[in-house]
Amino acid sequence: MNGDAPEPRVRRVFEHAARVITIAGDTAARRGPAMAELGILDDGTVAVDPDGRIAWVGPAGELPPSLREHAETIDCRGKTLMPAFVDAHTHLVWAGERKDELELRLRGADYEEIFAKGGGILSSVRQTRAVDDDELFAQSRARIARMRRCGTTTFEIKSGYGLELETELRQLRVARRLASEAGFRVRTTCLAAHAVPAEARADAETRAAFVRSIAETILPAVAQAGLADYADVFCDRGAFDLDESRIVLQAARALGLGLRVHANELGPTGGAKLAAELGAASADHLLHVDDDDRRALAAAGTVAVLLPGTSLVLGKAFADGRALVEAGVPVAVATDCNPGSCAFENLAMVVALACYGNRLSVAEAICAATHNAAASLGLAHEVGSLQPGRSADLLVLATDDERDLVYHAGSPLVDQVWQSGARVA
Ligand code: NIG
Ligand code: FE
Repeated sequence: MNGDAPEPRVRRVFEHAARVITIAGDTAARRGPAMAELGILDDGTVAVDPDGRIAWVGPAGELPPSLREHAETIDCRGKTLMPAFVDAHTHLVWAGERKDELELRLRGADYEEIFAKGGGILSSVRQTRAVDDDELFAQSRARIARMRRCGTTTFEIKSGYGLELETELRQLRVARRLASEAGFRVRTTCLAAHAVPAEARADAETRAAFVRSIAETILPAVAQAGLADYADVFCDRGAFDLDESRIVLQAARALGLGLRVHANELGPTGGAKLAAELGAASADHLLHVDDDDRRALAAAGTVAVLLPGTSLVLGKAFADGRALVEAGVPVAVATDCNPGSCAFENLAMVVALACYGNRLSVAEAICAATHNAAASLGLAHEVGSLQPGRSADLLVLATDDERDLVYHAGSPLVDQVWQSGARVA
């Protein structure tokens, strides 16, 4: 600023939006009927301050004139403003591809069989171990940039294609670089317990030694380097059993890491109850859960992260999202973006799948992919809702009815993506 012009109190005003989806309220994940209460304003305005934070939200015409002096105006007539998407479950740092497996599965091969024969996750482990950091960063950056173009500004990113210390650390460093060098909002999760690597598959002894090495070497090193916010375990048939998962999760908890659990995807393995018992932030997938599991998750406040894209790609049943909401479990929806079971990048489209597959209402699915996803990552004070003080991470949709995200699933309705008050797509 020069001369006597005052420092602007508001830099940008998104004005006269046909709909503003605020999801205003506290930072706790929403449950039950509250998931569908999106706090919608008709003909609304959102003002953003010079630091990229939301300064004011309210009916158009009521923004105090003094606040808007010198601000740039963005006309949102006929459009919808909503919080940018938050993707609470991705494996987006990997190298190489598995499109050959896609072809095999389309011809009837089974995901678990491919995995048991050393393909699947282990194929991505070989490819990820073989590239250097810059290559891993470049491939991951291209992917996350496409995801942001689809409307997501916040990402949870898991490791798990290293399965040994050095490559796990490299994956997590690349995930952090996506934040520090490329400006994406990232939370990281160490998923060293993603699969038993080829070199530890000889017998029960080598397998047990691998589980111990996660608990005693990999997680402590990751925590010491400050590279992970969470730890996760693939607690399922063909991956890690309940006892092994408990060893890993307890070690992670003792190190001060938050917990997330791949649970009950392939069978009723007890992972959901274990997640609840250990106070995990999230239990993810949940295709095979019963009333008892749902009660345990609800009592613990563990967020159920649904991944309907994976059900679709693998030709599985969809998790019963309706029953989870009705049982009072806070529900989130995420892509699971990974090289094998679901490489979808478009969370807006996955929101539609959550309606058609998991039987959420449109409003519930929007809450699940914004505020509840942010709450599961401990970021609801920053993103996931449009209210004063939150970061201006928001979408301008080219429609005056957010239900079009589901009605016209897959159409390019995300017109503008803003992160911290800056336009990023
Ligand atoms: O969440 N379930 C385990 N992990 C991934 C699949 C990873 C892969 O196939 O590479 C998932 O679906
Ligand atoms: Fe996953």
